Amino acid sequence: MNLDAMKKAAAEAALDYIEVGDVIGVGTGSTANFFIDALARSGPAIDGAVASSNATADRLSSHGIRVLDLNDCGELPVYVDGADEFDPGLNLVKGGGGALTREKIVAGASRRFVCIVDAGKAVDVLGSFPLPVEVIPMARALVSRRLAAEGGEPALRDGFVTDNGNVILDVRGLHIADPKALETRLNQVPGVVTNGLFAVRGADVVLVGAGSGVQRLER
Ligand code: A5P
Repeated sequence: MNLDAMKKAAAEAALDYIEVGDVIGVGTGSTANFFIDALARSGPAIDGAVASSNATADRLSSHGIRVLDLNDCGELPVYVDGADEFDPGLNLVKGGGGALTREKIVAGASRRFVCIVDAGKAVDVLGSFPLPVEVIPMARALVSRRLAAEGGEPALRDGFVTDNGNVILDVRGLHIADPKALETRLNQVPGVVTNGLFAVRGADVVLVGAGSGVQRLER
């Protein structure tokens, strides 16, 4: 099974968590795109979706799915999104696509976070994938120094501006033994909008597409 087939299998398995009439949260990235396409093709008729990025909003709209403002919705029953890494505790690194802040907001507004990944995203300890940190531009140097003090090597994501008008620092070299503590600590640095650790609010379910089918991991 190739990578896209694994992502697609995980994305299709997420349809089991959606019910007719739901307003759901939808994430960003290639696996989330497979989910949007599957939802439009053969999923339950939902009432609408809250998007975690402009790109996702465009894709939902292109399929005729109504895109809603989170401020007009109450708690969402489910949020479906991919990840760059997941560990056995269902903690995640996200933000490879740069949408981490809106992803964290929509995940936080959702009762259940269903994460869809290919098997290559599994790790024992988070940190092999460079940790994305969204930063207000004037704080770039300050935040970089603080990240270096944590043992990381931050690099500015070249030419990239987030949907919120900020920059991303990708941090290599972190061995993230305590994801909740690091997520909380980094978010205290002035100028950090958020970081790509999803541990304080990790996934509730991870659907892992693999050659052998889809594995369901539940908290
Ligand atoms: C987007 O900002 C990310 O958090 C994505 O969820 C993550 O990068 C996974 O992307 P793929 O599904 O494209 O691997």
